[in-house]
Amino acid sequence: MPKFKTLDGLQVKGKRVLVRADLNVPMKNGKVTDTSRIDRQAPTIRELSDKGAKVIVLSHFERPKGKVVPSMSLKPIAAPLSKAVGKPVAFADDCVGDHAKAAVKKLKNGDVLLLENTRFHAGEEANDPDFAKQLASLGEIYVNDAFSAAHRAHASTEGVAHLLPSAAGRSMQAELEHLHEALGDPVHPVMAVVGGAKVSSKIELLTNLISKVDVLVIGGAMANTFLAAEGRNVGKSLYEEGELDTARNIVSAAIAAGTVLILPTDVVVAKELKENARTRTTDVFGVKDDERILDIGPATVEEFSRRLLTTTTLVWNGPLGAFETPPFDKGTVSAAKAVGDRAKDGRLTAIAGGGDTVAALNHAGVTDNFTYVSTAGGAFLEWLEGKELPGVAALEQGD
Ligand code: 3PG
Repeated sequence: MPKFKTLDGLQVKGKRVLVRADLNVPMKNGKVTDTSRIDRQAPTIRELSDKGAKVIVLSHFERPKGKVVPSMSLKPIAAPLSKAVGKPVAFADDCVGDHAKAAVKKLKNGDVLLLENTRFHAGEEANDPDFAKQLASLGEIYVNDAFSAAHRAHASTEGVAHLLPSAAGRSMQAELEHLHEALGDPVHPVMAVVGGAKVSSKIELLTNLISKVDVLVIGGAMANTFLAAEGRNVGKSLYEEGELDTARNIVSAAIAAGTVLILPTDVVVAKELKENARTRTTDVFGVKDDERILDIGPATVEEFSRRLLTTTTLVWNGPLGAFETPPFDKGTVSAAKAVGDRAKDGRLTAIAGGGDTVAALNHAGVTDNFTYVSTAGGAFLEWLEGKELPGVAALEQGD
């Protein structure tokens, strides 16, 4: 388990505490459409405020690339953040310079201030030491609660951690503890479920998982590449012709590592991907030239459920079919329900993450049954790849 300080034991009363949150939330017409990230990070801000800190919240929002882009302002987030924290949240329209300094100066113990988008300054993504110094000068303590941005070595996620006494916030702490439980030091047997469209974007992830898990389940369109690599006709299905050797290498690596690889044995096919399209279920030998594989079939779900009975720890990334378009959601929903049922009464530790995955679990209505669902996208993937996350590594070095 990585060693880092937490809020426990931090003396924050009367201190200016810089909290790096990830308030990069989905927004439509100026309204936040999913508050999950805000809700997860609010407890850290509330706890620090309750303990009498002057809380200064930093975050990026979208990708303005070092320029002020008014539509990417964090200002509309101040109200939903205030609602989640249960306290007023002031806003300063810059994260460094006179505006930020003046707003910080006004803070009393327990007050909360949100600063404007850190990515409005080029120094943020460049991890420019001067910019990091300017940010650090606003606070006396640094708390990073943004696991979902920890794969970025930016000034506010990495640079500042070296300049101030640092600690992980409650959300960062929960992410790291649960991810450690899933792959760092898991109770075996461990199963990984990997879906999504492309093998090419998940090569490192699959390679890392093979050496760590006992069973690897591959679904989604990326399974088509494995089926094609085995010589099956995949008709008009999405697959990556250039990755057939990669798929074969992954199969060989699994055999060498003694990892059980589960690929679909039956599939749901249709002539087109559209809602309520006419479908057919066939074993993987029976796909016709004009058909597309759009979901795993019931026999595959059954095999998956059988394997679950002897699984203690499960980590899931990626949907198993075209779940946004019913009826091609059935495989993902049935598998997710099977996992949720076992996890809810503690027979399984089930950890999931990644944008599409969370949407799929929400769609299946089982998110709350999982042991832990990460709010991270890219950071969760890099962690599954076994990479060191700069934002986490910097906290480990913090004094
Ligand atoms: C995310 O949404 O995954 C994080 O906020 C990181 O955003 P980024 O990919 O723009 O760095």
